[in-house]
Amino acid sequence: FSPSLIDSFNRRHNYLRISLTERCNLRCFYCMPSEGVELSPRDHILTDDEVIRLAKLFVKSGVTKIRLTGGEPTVRKGLVDIVGRLNELREFGLQSIGMTTNGIALERRLPALIENGLTHLNLSLDTMDPHKFEIMTRRMGHAAVLRSLDAALSLGLESVKLNVVVIKGLNDAEVLDFIQLTQSKDISVRFIEFMPFTGNKWDKAKMLPSSEILDRIQRDHPNTIKAPDELNDTARSYIIPGFKGSFGFISSMSDHFCGSCNRLRLTADGQIKVCLFDAKEISLRDQMRRGTTDDELLETIGHAVRGKQEKHAGMEDIDVVTNRPMILIGG
Ligand code: GTP
Ligand code: 5AD
Ligand code: SF4
Repeated sequence: FSPSLIDSFNRRHNYLRISLTERCNLRCFYCMPSEGVELSPRDHILTDDEVIRLAKLFVKSGVTKIRLTGGEPTVRKGLVDIVGRLNELREFGLQSIGMTTNGIALERRLPALIENGLTHLNLSLDTMDPHKFEIMTRRMGHAAVLRSLDAALSLGLESVKLNVVVIKGLNDAEVLDFIQLTQSKDISVRFIEFMPFTGNKWDKAKMLPSSEILDRIQRDHPNTIKAPDELNDTARSYIIPGFKGSFGFISSMSDHFCGSCNRLRLTADGQIKVCLFDAKEISLRDQMRRGTTDDELLETIGHAVRGKQEKHAGMEDIDVVTNRPMILIGG
């Protein structure tokens, strides 16, 4: 494990989230400002070769898990090919290739993605109601997402998770409907606390703390039991005996999990970002384009990682103004 990926709190970063594009085919209000975002000029986005070069360097340094994000990763041209090239990094220690997607344009690409090495899929779906879907995403497409979910469950992925960002007054009444989904489907539903980002109209009053959601679920399912969590999981998981799936909570706001953080991020425009909530980014793209060696790149990465803070200590600490909107970070 390269010391460059160990921070000053001794956290070992073996998980890289790579954003492949700033574009998205939905307009979820919690992810981007209503006026949209200014996209980087095309030539600022990393090329396939640049993505693979960096991924290889990270894997050789100790990264075992890569997750592709966006924007919406399925709108990136050449996605299937990129997954195939990442899959070749297994010989250097890569163990899993995941993707987080909204599922709109996923169904027909999924077989090829899995054939090329995709192992873990997280699908964002906040509502089972097509009308609410349009309100939350400002686009149509609910049925397509449900088809992608069923395709994902039938194609033998190692895991399929459903991400539900809970917004008070919008979709919070659907919590038990999502629990019902886990009765017959082998999915892990994660209820996510609404987090603040530039332009997303975050409001504490719209955020439902995980503890309240758990209370509601336990009232309906008193036999709910705590399931074991993986060391670096974002979610705290639960199961209901007899149900095929499970559910959990990603409580970034009420109960952060920074102590076990193992994540680094690469933005679509080639910046390393050591924390979701830290606005500071360092460009690996510019350094690569100036002509640089892998050792020099690793030095830059090490410098960024050593600058990672211990935690985001509550709202006062989250720099919503200079941190980029979620769509440009990738979650
Ligand atoms: P796994 O690889 O399956 O563990 O996925 P994940 O839960 O890390 O990632 P996913 O892309 O599905 O994101 C689910 C939610 O977790 C989103 O709201 C992300 O913004 C949030 N999330 C992901 N990584 C981090 C992180 O490092 N810190 C915080 N606070 N939230 C995160
Ligand atoms: N708060 C919490 N989760 C968010 N996501 C996007 N924006 C937010 C936010 N403001 C989630 C998406 C997706 C994942 C990458 O991040 O729903 O599932
Ligand atoms: Fe890691 Fe930052 Fe997320 Fe905390 S907020 S878990 S430090 S990326």
